[in-house]
Amino acid sequence: MKNIGVERKKRIKGEISLPGDKSISHRAIMLGSIAQGKTRVKEFSDCADCRNTLNAFLKLGIEIEDHSQGELTIHGQGLKGLTSAKEIIDVGNSGTTMRLLSGILAGQDFSSTITGDEYLQRRPMKRIILPLREMGAKISSPDDNHPPITIVGQKLHPIDYHSPVASAQVKSCVLLAGLYAKGRTSLTESSPSRDHTERMLKYLNGPIEIKGTAIFIEGVSELEARAITIPGDISSAAFFIITCLLLKNSEIRIKGVGINPTRTGVIDILKKMGADIVIEDVHELCGEPVADLIVKSSNLRGTNIGGALIPRIIDEIPVLAVAATQAEGVTEISNAQELRVKESDRIGNVVSELSKMGASIKEKEDGMVISGGKRLAGSSVNSFSDHRMAMALTIGGLIADGETTINDVACIDTSFPHFMDALNRMVE
Ligand code: S3P
Repeated sequence: MKNIGVERKKRIKGEISLPGDKSISHRAIMLGSIAQGKTRVKEFSDCADCRNTLNAFLKLGIEIEDHSQGELTIHGQGLKGLTSAKEIIDVGNSGTTMRLLSGILAGQDFSSTITGDEYLQRRPMKRIILPLREMGAKISSPDDNHPPITIVGQKLHPIDYHSPVASAQVKSCVLLAGLYAKGRTSLTESSPSRDHTERMLKYLNGPIEIKGTAIFIEGVSELEARAITIPGDISSAAFFIITCLLLKNSEIRIKGVGINPTRTGVIDILKKMGADIVIEDVHELCGEPVADLIVKSSNLRGTNIGGALIPRIIDEIPVLAVAATQAEGVTEISNAQELRVKESDRIGNVVSELSKMGASIKEKEDGMVISGGKRLAGSSVNSFSDHRMAMALTIGGLIADGETTINDVACIDTSFPHFMDALNRMVE
C-alpha cells in the first residue's frame, strides 16, 4: 500500500491546464464507439476509470488507436456494431463505466457480464436494473443489486421514467438504452444531474430533445461520428481552487476548465463563502462551456449546502469539507445521502479522517456539520482507497501544522494520475 507524507505549504502560484474531464471522456469513448465513422478525441483523460471504459470497448470489438497525450481515434461501428466480449468485462473501480455500459449492452443481440473491483462490487446497481427491466432488458445480478451483472441483450421498448435519484449515471444509462428502443423514451429526475450525455448527443445531432425538466430520446437512429475535444475537469480543479483559497498570498489561473452549469456548484458555493474566483475567456467546446478560472486567497465564511445544489457538487464535497474547516462559522451539508454509496462512504470517512486532524465535524445521516476556524494538525489518515478522499486529505495536509501521512494513495490514479506532480509544481 503506497502512503505519502504531506507538509504545510506557504502558498500556491502559477498557471495550470488540467487533464480532460472524466465524465466527458467516458462518454466520448462510448458514443464514439456506437457512432458511425471515425471519432478523433483530444484531451482524453488518462485516468484509470476512463482506461477501463476504453478497454471495455476494445473487448466489445471496437478499434481504438491511442496516439498518446490524450489523443485517440475511435473507429465507430454504428449502434449495432459491437461484438460479444469473449470474457467478463472488468471495469475496475468505475461506476460510470458499469452503469452507462449496461444501458448500451441491454439493447445488443448478445450477452455480456460486467464486474468490477471489490469497491465497485459493493455499490448499488438496482437503480439501473429496475428501469432497464422496465424497458424489456434481461438483466440480473446475484442479489439483484450488486455486481457482477449479466445482461442478455434484448429488443427494448421505450418507457417514461421518473428517476428517484438525481444521478447522471442512472439518467445516462436509460438514455443510452433509449437509443436502442423503438419509439420515444422520456426521463425526468428529482433534481438536475450533470448533463454531459445530453450535450454530447446533441453535438452528434442525436435524436434528443429537452423540454423543461423532461428529456426525450428517440430510438433506432444512427449517430454520426464527430471530433470531440474534452474540457479540463472541474472536479480536479476543485483541489487547486481550494488550496489557493486557503493558503495566504496565493493566486492561480486554471486554464480551459469545463464550466457546465450542472457541475459548477463548487464555484457557486465557494463564492457564497467569500471566495475570490473570476471566470474569464468563456467559450464553447464541442457543446460544453469552458473558461479560465483565476483564484486568489480568500477568507471564507460558513454556509448551508443542500437541496438541488447537491448533485451539482456531488464529487467535490470531501474537499469542500476541508475548506469549511477553515471558514469562519458553521457549514452544514444536508440531503447528501448519495455520498454514502460513492467509491467509499464519503460522509463517514470525511468525518472520521478530518476529526483525526483536529477538525470540529459531526456526522449526520445525510451530511455533516462543520464548525470552522480551527487549524488542522498533521495526523495519519486513510483514503479508504477512494481517490477523492486521498486528494481532499492531501489538501488538508497542505494547510495542517506538522506532517500528515495519507495511507493508500495509489487510488488517486482513478481520476487524476499526475495530481501530486501537478500540485508539487505549484506549491511553495
Ligand atoms: C458521474 C456521475 C456522478 C458522479 C460520478 C460521475 C457521471 O455519479 O458522482 O463521479 O459521469 O455520470 P451519480 O450520477 O451516480 O451521482
